[in-house]
Amino acid sequence: MRKTRVNLGDRSYEIMICRNETAKLGRIIKQLDLGTDAVIITNSRVKKLFGPGVKKSLLSAGLNVRFEIVPDSEAAKSEKHCLRLLNRISRFDGLGRRVFIVALGGGVIGDLAGFVASIYKRGVPYAQVPTTLLAQVDSSIGGKVAIDLDIGKNLAGSFYQPRLVYSDVSFLKKLPEKELASGLAEVIKYGVIKSAALFSFIRKNLKKILRRDPAVLERVVYECGSIKAGVVEKDERDNKDARIILNFGHTVGHAIETAAGYGKRYNHGQAIALGMLAASFISIKLNLLAEADYLKIRALIKNSGLPVALKGVSEGKIMRALGHDKKFIRGKNRFVLPVSIGETVIKENIPESLIRGSIKTLYGLKKR
Ligand code: NAD
Ligand code: GLY
Repeated sequence: MRKTRVNLGDRSYEIMICRNETAKLGRIIKQLDLGTDAVIITNSRVKKLFGPGVKKSLLSAGLNVRFEIVPDSEAAKSEKHCLRLLNRISRFDGLGRRVFIVALGGGVIGDLAGFVASIYKRGVPYAQVPTTLLAQVDSSIGGKVAIDLDIGKNLAGSFYQPRLVYSDVSFLKKLPEKELASGLAEVIKYGVIKSAALFSFIRKNLKKILRRDPAVLERVVYECGSIKAGVVEKDERDNKDARIILNFGHTVGHAIETAAGYGKRYNHGQAIALGMLAASFISIKLNLLAEADYLKIRALIKNSGLPVALKGVSEGKIMRALGHDKKFIRGKNRFVLPVSIGETVIKENIPESLIRGSIKTLYGLKKR
């Protein structure tokens, strides 16, 4: 087992990364004294795969266990399911119980369960037990929890840190290829923004990652978790210009996600992969990044099974999604741009023509 820590004073917690060690989870939670009664929020697919193991581990540590099931889609991150969970938990709570929450699943479950934990009785403890690569390297760490509102994603949320992140990479064996690739986009992101060493480790070990080699995955999840922990420690509430670095690729990426209709054509990681290419193109044009580095980033994205060409979503729709706030395009916009593999800068006021150009290259309509 590898461990890294998020140091945030009395909100500090450990990120534990292991292989096939779910049996230890109950004992670890018990030692942290999160409560007496675990409400495991998950979906039916994840429950079927990992529910029995997690339940057994918690029961054998003397904890009571109750599952709450939500739909297996982004739709679970909604007012409806959030309120339903709060009502169900409150009906079960009481009589000397100390309820805590376990988020067992991908980023959807982590965001929803963490948000529920943050508002139920003004906050109860929760543990993140992420089961997708994306959740293990990114969404389970850092305390951003949220549900979606009608007009946009993650619009109702809070910063609420978990008491534990427990990532068992053996969970990833059953993860569909497209979901593994989605997580890999975030892994590549960490390499580009912070660690040339991680980038080259991924390049060298890509085949093993795609085969779900547990030792390699454990190292990757550990390295990414350590990077994210370091960033979150500097800027827990995302208001000091440090956490923004995690948004590399997310500006155009989010616009692609919105324009394509969430998850319909591109999942989060696929859209971010395209967004990273758009940002890297802008970097080349501003003479910040060498073409050779751009090509290395592109090759790694492609070899990871992620898209490098955009299809089925119009440039106009993406530009509209980017600038539904006109200020973004006409006034001040901010991009995280790579200057080399392992280092980025933040640039404001990127001209609209350059942003458009970066999107055009994704259709192969414009030469670099
Ligand atoms: P997801 O939670 O929808 O999971 C993807 C699919 O994989 C689902 O169908 C799920 O049931 C299934 N699954 C989960 N674990 C599995 C396993 N081990 N084996 C087989 N199938 C499994 O998607 P995601 O990519 O993990 O998360 C996306 C969500 O994360 C979005 O809502 C996004 O907004 C959020 N997010 C949050 C943060 C943050 O900092 N809070 C960061 C990035 C993304
Ligand atoms: N996923 C971006 C952040 O945690 O800030």
